[in-house]
Amino acid sequence: MEASKTMNATTVNTPVTIPEYDLKKVQAKNRLLGMWRLMHGYRLTYLSANLSLAFSATFKTCTFLLLRYFADQILGQPAKNGMLPLIGLGFITLAALEGSFTYVSGRLAAYTAEGVTLRLRNYLFDHIQRLSFAYHSKAKTGELIERVTSDVDALRRFFSEQAIGVGRIFFLFIINFAALLSLNVKLALISIIVIPFILVSSVFFFKRVTKAYEKYQEQEAILSTTLQENLTGVRVVKAFARQEYEINKFEKENWDKFLRGRKLMTMHSFFWPLSDIFCAFQMLSGFFIGATMAINGEITSGAYLAYAGLVVWLIWPMRNLGRLIVQTSTGMVSFGRVLDIIKENREPLEDGDHQPVADLRGDLVFDQVSFEYEDEEGLVLNNISFDCQAGQSIALLGSTGSGKTSLVNLLPRFYEYTSGCIKLDGVELNRYSRKYLRSQIGIVEQEPFLFSRSIRENITYGVGRNVSQEEIELATKAAAIAEVIAAFPEGYNTLVGEKGVTLSGGQKQRVAIARTLLKNPRILILDDSTSSVDTETEAEIRSALQSLMKNRTTFIIAHRIQSVMNADLILVLDKGQIVQKGVHAELLAQEGIYKQIFDIQTRIEMELEKDISKSAVGAAMPVESYIAGD
Ligand SMILES: Nc1ncnc2c1ncn2[C@@H]1O[C@H](COP(=O)(O)OP(=O)(O)O)[C@@H](O)[C@H]1O
Ligand SMILES: [Mg+2]
Repeated sequence: MEASKTMNATTVNTPVTIPEYDLKKVQAKNRLLGMWRLMHGYRLTYLSANLSLAFSATFKTCTFLLLRYFADQILGQPAKNGMLPLIGLGFITLAALEGSFTYVSGRLAAYTAEGVTLRLRNYLFDHIQRLSFAYHSKAKTGELIERVTSDVDALRRFFSEQAIGVGRIFFLFIINFAALLSLNVKLALISIIVIPFILVSSVFFFKRVTKAYEKYQEQEAILSTTLQENLTGVRVVKAFARQEYEINKFEKENWDKFLRGRKLMTMHSFFWPLSDIFCAFQMLSGFFIGATMAINGEITSGAYLAYAGLVVWLIWPMRNLGRLIVQTSTGMVSFGRVLDIIKENREPLEDGDHQPVADLRGDLVFDQVSFEYEDEEGLVLNNISFDCQAGQSIALLGSTGSGKTSLVNLLPRFYEYTSGCIKLDGVELNRYSRKYLRSQIGIVEQEPFLFSRSIRENITYGVGRNVSQEEIELATKAAAIAEVIAAFPEGYNTLVGEKGVTLSGGQKQRVAIARTLLKNPRILILDDSTSSVDTETEAEIRSALQSLMKNRTTFIIAHRIQSVMNADLILVLDKGQIVQKGVHAELLAQEGIYKQIFDIQTRIEMELEKDISKSAVGAAMPVESYIAGD
């Protein structure tokens, strides 16, 4: 049901209608069967393409039969000279028919191959987006790209060349063999002796080429992952002056690819000459035996002429059968690699039996919640209990790896807690559908991601309703980014990223805040939203965040005491456990991590303050505001 919906979504804007089919069903033990299923909706076209080839093959064969008639009945018989124009017309007509059907079959084949892969690519894109958080935190981007592009393309080649070749080979063989039988049975049988040799050698190579191609594709995926990571992390590479290392790493992987590619090609270049030798031997001996038979008068010279032409077109399919078998291996390997993605289960978005009738308030109760990652040993969250009322703010403080992100990731159900219970407005969290929760929860990440689209598109992303310019401007004002955007030459239409403006970390952060403001979520998660920017920007962001937090249940993850001290509840986490819990004043009164962090941070600030007041001659800037930022 969900799949048909997604196919609908993909067919909306395409000029051709894509036949609907849930590609999840292409999973089959036998890959050829799976590939046949992949052609669902295109099989008629595919069969028509093959049928056209059969017609085209028939007309070619007829040409040789006409040649025999011409040689035996017309040539050297002056009485029948009048037939010449007719024979000529016959040859022309046959050639025209043959050509037309070849063209039609080419078109249909292209339609099949392109259509099947168009649908497959759409499906994969759609499918990948719907895989779980856990899948994406493990999957390598380069590997995924490789499978959606290179492997799908190998499949396209399979459908446009090999899959269509089957019919051509089959029909050419049947028709020409029948024609040869009609000429002379003995000669016909002699002409197919080579078949077993071709079959045995191609099965032998099929297995080896499959393995070699599998290795080749794996290496290609490694190479593209290397490239993709290098490009994404190019700043780090430069900052650490690791170019040399990265270049060596790439060259090593590239060399590996070369070796594997060479092995694959060597295999091919063994096979082709071998099958060519078989076929040449077959052809020459056929010519020789046929000529002997013609000389002995067993067949007419017209029949020999026709035979000489026909046998070429009988050997062609036999030779190509070998090619087909060997090349099919590449299609099958790529299909397997694509299947690996299709096999993955989607994250159910619509599950959950609780349909909230009223608006969400945002009361939360955590009751002895524990959590561990699926394939990872050990509890990441251990017995977490606390509660908060709608509109309150909860701050999470703790060292890296203490489980802060894991805790907030439970709320949109990116992951499912393993024991205990979380109640949202009195209802168990996993009774809400993921889709609903995600529409109610806004997240501002440490490093928000912006698309290479216009600022307006980035701000209205995922809002799910029409937003007026006024509303956008209100949001950007509240997020303290309106002036920055207004200063851009194209305002809200300015592109972000490669082809447009480069935004600083703090600016990106505020665009993300505006985006979240527009979404107007009931629950807000600020995961380290201010840790990567300088103090001045932090101050701006913090005031932007203040307007964002109004009337929402908010989780704040931060390292600076100033960011968390006003929270209604502060939780100090250590190794997945709550070690301290309370408001700022309470926690300061206790001996513990919180007080230690507070002391360290105030000492640093006081020293900073001293330095600044010493060096700033005019001291025009009020020092407190510089540091505290409010
Ligand atoms: N996707 C994941 N799969 C497995 N383990 C993870 C994953 N994400 C985080 N962890 C582990 O869970 C622990 C808590 O991590 P995290 O919640 O990110 O901590 P924090 O946000 O406090 O730095 C760490 O030991 C980390 O290695
Ligand atoms: Mg974190």
